[in-house]
Amino acid sequence: MSYPFKINSLEQYYEDYKNATDNPEAFWANVADNFYWRKKWDKVLDWNFSEPKVEWFAGAKLNITENCIDRHLEKFSDKPAIIWEPNNPDERTRVVTYARLHKRVCQVAQMLKNNGVKKGDRVCIYMGMVPELTYAVLGCARIGAIHSVIFGGFSAQSIADRLDDANADFIITCDGSYRGDKIIPLKDVIDNALVGNKTIKKVIVYTRTRTSVSMIKGRDVWWEDEMDIAEDQVEKNGVVSFPAEEMDAEDPLFILYTSGSTGKPKGVVHTCAGYMIWTTYTFVNMLNYNQGDIHFCTADIGWITGHSYIVYGPLAAGGTSLMFEGIPTFPNAGRFWDIIDKHQVNILYTAPTALRSLMSFGDAPLLGKNLSSLKTLGTVGEPINEEAWHWYDDNIGKNKCPIIDTWWQTETGGTLIANLAGITPSKPSWATLPMPGVQPIIVDEKGDEVTKLDDQGMIKGNLCIKAPWPGILRTTWGDHERCRLNYFATYPNLYFTGDGAMKDAEGNFRITGRVDDVLNISGHRIGTAEVENAINMHTGVVESAVVGYPHDIKGQGIYAFVIYNGHHGDENQRRQDISLTVAKIIGAIAKPDKIQFVSGLPKTRSGKIMRRILRKIAEGETENLGDTTTLLDPDVVAEISKGRV
Ligand code: WT7
Repeated sequence: MSYPFKINSLEQYYEDYKNATDNPEAFWANVADNFYWRKKWDKVLDWNFSEPKVEWFAGAKLNITENCIDRHLEKFSDKPAIIWEPNNPDERTRVVTYARLHKRVCQVAQMLKNNGVKKGDRVCIYMGMVPELTYAVLGCARIGAIHSVIFGGFSAQSIADRLDDANADFIITCDGSYRGDKIIPLKDVIDNALVGNKTIKKVIVYTRTRTSVSMIKGRDVWWEDEMDIAEDQVEKNGVVSFPAEEMDAEDPLFILYTSGSTGKPKGVVHTCAGYMIWTTYTFVNMLNYNQGDIHFCTADIGWITGHSYIVYGPLAAGGTSLMFEGIPTFPNAGRFWDIIDKHQVNILYTAPTALRSLMSFGDAPLLGKNLSSLKTLGTVGEPINEEAWHWYDDNIGKNKCPIIDTWWQTETGGTLIANLAGITPSKPSWATLPMPGVQPIIVDEKGDEVTKLDDQGMIKGNLCIKAPWPGILRTTWGDHERCRLNYFATYPNLYFTGDGAMKDAEGNFRITGRVDDVLNISGHRIGTAEVENAINMHTGVVESAVVGYPHDIKGQGIYAFVIYNGHHGDENQRRQDISLTVAKIIGAIAKPDKIQFVSGLPKTRSGKIMRRILRKIAEGETENLGDTTTLLDPDVVAEISKGRV
């Protein structure tokens, strides 16, 4: 497969950027011509950010799985679509060709149909990183069911909230999943999530760990049994088929929940055509993907990075996507490098937090590992510090591979700002230039564009985007007003990212981090309000305030100030109980790194917690805590500062 929309030179980047800005409809129609449509569009783009309303390729009919699979079958049926590397290196690698992927996805679609799933139904997927997870995602897309993948680290309560919000009808899960030397009992978590649930009709359970599970007659069925039945239905005389549902361009493809500044995660909705084009276009261009390259994205499919750059982008491009079940440090810190050596990986796309963690093991895990197949290195999810950037460049890329720093969000569907590997220049810790079709601007508090360089030669402020690109979110599930308020109301006629940024005189962007109350813990997004709600669920807790602080490996850590009124246990016992409460309400990823017990919180006379002060204390600042005169009780600040943990 060739990619006529691939950018091959710096000049072409500037030319394409200009064309996509000046005439987006013609530009994206041209890109869209490289995909398979049942019927082409009536109108390329219709939008306003005030409702907001964004429609790309309205009137077009397609099914994304025909683009990710069927259209590759003629030439690439034997080509690996997915290479799967298990958690335990002693277990067998699995190579899934496009022909095999087609068969499995048809089977899943048939299995879902047999179990009553229809177009538009919401199917929750809670599985480990097994190939069957990809089959499940694509099987949903094939029959037009809306998938909602939930990361395997979320608790029963988090799942219950998400099932409820989406009014989900079906679940696909595993008995358990392997994670390093641990087994996570996924089906057991689902059972707990389903206590009191009234909407779920069926739970399909794939066997991975042979962990014992309870199976409720009439509700729970085994994946293997159902897939056997489906196999006979989709395969006749050696020919496999399951007709893909014809979808409108703007029909929802999936929901993915993500945290914001309120206590309740929101369901970001992406639609079929625009998302497909954006993920494919950005995948090929930012990573400089060429036919035959082996692409290893280390994310989990439970997050947007996995959706866009393990499943949809690489497969729509007819690529080979390496899917890894385990963690970077099991059985040892050489695991990534072994995988790259073993499969001759060409592209590594990972998170700064993983690099920082691997860096701390020194050179030993790299000894004897042949990494010469690597051509492109990428990072995603959080700002990358210069030290990690240079370690990546020196030790992994041996100064021969371009490093791309890709900035984007669950809401943006795919990358918005990144250097293009080997095409546009890189700058350590800078995401650099916007993709064609992306018009970022930096605004001040009032929403006015900042145009004047400061004395360091920079423009600084809040990052917004002026016009829609094909992959922008369309709504938040069940609550369009929430989508408007969250992203389109802060500054009129702009999409507000929630990030702060700076821009240099050459137009390069550096993302400096969230300006709202959202934390980025190891590249995972968690709202401070969410963590506070969970801490406050603990019987002994009166009130709490959560802030982020710089953490060497995770990027940010969670620091909780807690007013406690119970009698149970000593301080450490209480800390553990509070952590366990958070793990039950959200999941282990949201456990506070530090808990400080305090007698009061710094509040204004109107009762608002002054997080600015708490942030400074958490960062270790004792002197310049800023103006505390407006506080109800200024003395509390000195006490908190003294008791820092
Ligand atoms: C937030 C989005 C992008 C998919 C994974 C995370 C931060 C993301 C970068 C980067 C600096 C980054 C931002 C953004 N972020 N990539 N290259 N440099 N910050 O998706 O969970 O929706 O989080 O992650 O703060 O807003 P997400």
